[in-house]
Amino acid sequence: MRRKLAAGNWKMHGTGADLAEIATLARTHADPACEVLICPPATLIERAAREVRGSALMIGAQDCHSAPEGAHTGDISPAMIRDAGAGHVILGHSERRQDHAETSALVRAKAMAALDAGLVTIICLGETLPDRESGATLDIIGQQLAGSTPDAARGENTVIAYEPVWAIGSGHVAHPDQIAEVHGFLRERLTHRFGTGVAAMIRLLYGGSVKPANAAGIFAIPDVDGALVGGASLRAESFSPIISALEQAAAGI
Ligand code: 13P
Repeated sequence: MRRKLAAGNWKMHGTGADLAEIATLARTHADPACEVLICPPATLIERAAREVRGSALMIGAQDCHSAPEGAHTGDISPAMIRDAGAGHVILGHSERRQDHAETSALVRAKAMAALDAGLVTIICLGETLPDRESGATLDIIGQQLAGSTPDAARGENTVIAYEPVWAIGSGHVAHPDQIAEVHGFLRERLTHRFGTGVAAMIRLLYGGSVKPANAAGIFAIPDVDGALVGGASLRAESFSPIISALEQAAAGI
């Protein structure tokens, strides 16, 4: 019932030469059994959107401002992202929470603006290693979820990505029991806030060192509806097997 989603976050990687990776993915996964999304840097959104036109691939952004327009040098608005040809935006990634001191309140304001502009938001949450070691993981995740998710969140406009900070770019993927625990908790908190029907339709992605070798194992975990992939999404040769693993999970193979 929840359509699975393989999302690539290119972070601050990629120039025009890398659009060929997107073209390859669009060709290789012409009729995918799951949704496939690439979020390149803002400078590539418009060209990437042109590259995937007529294919099943979708293009998203990595951040947006909470205002529709204004004196905010260097920022881009949700409407600008739409205009460039993207339909999704990643919000509250831990790198933005850390590098730009983004709070959950700001993430929520951005999410409301993005929803107003008709974008699908991918709201990121995750505990640090000290949080986990002190047993605070579910408290932190619960606070981030409550604080970052707008009341208008629905299955069709909101995706939640659980990305333990210590698993990002480290090669240390979370243990399946850890992922299952947090995803089960997220589903429970969403059910408590939005009711069973809405909560059952909001997709939960795992992110943090997802690679071709570990993807199938992650996709077999209950309540994992896909992945938010960093490093391995930069090349078609490493993202494509992850997409294929998710397609197999979608088909129940
Ligand atoms: P890696 O897949 O490189 O660990 O990055 C995960 C991530 O932060 C995706 O948003």
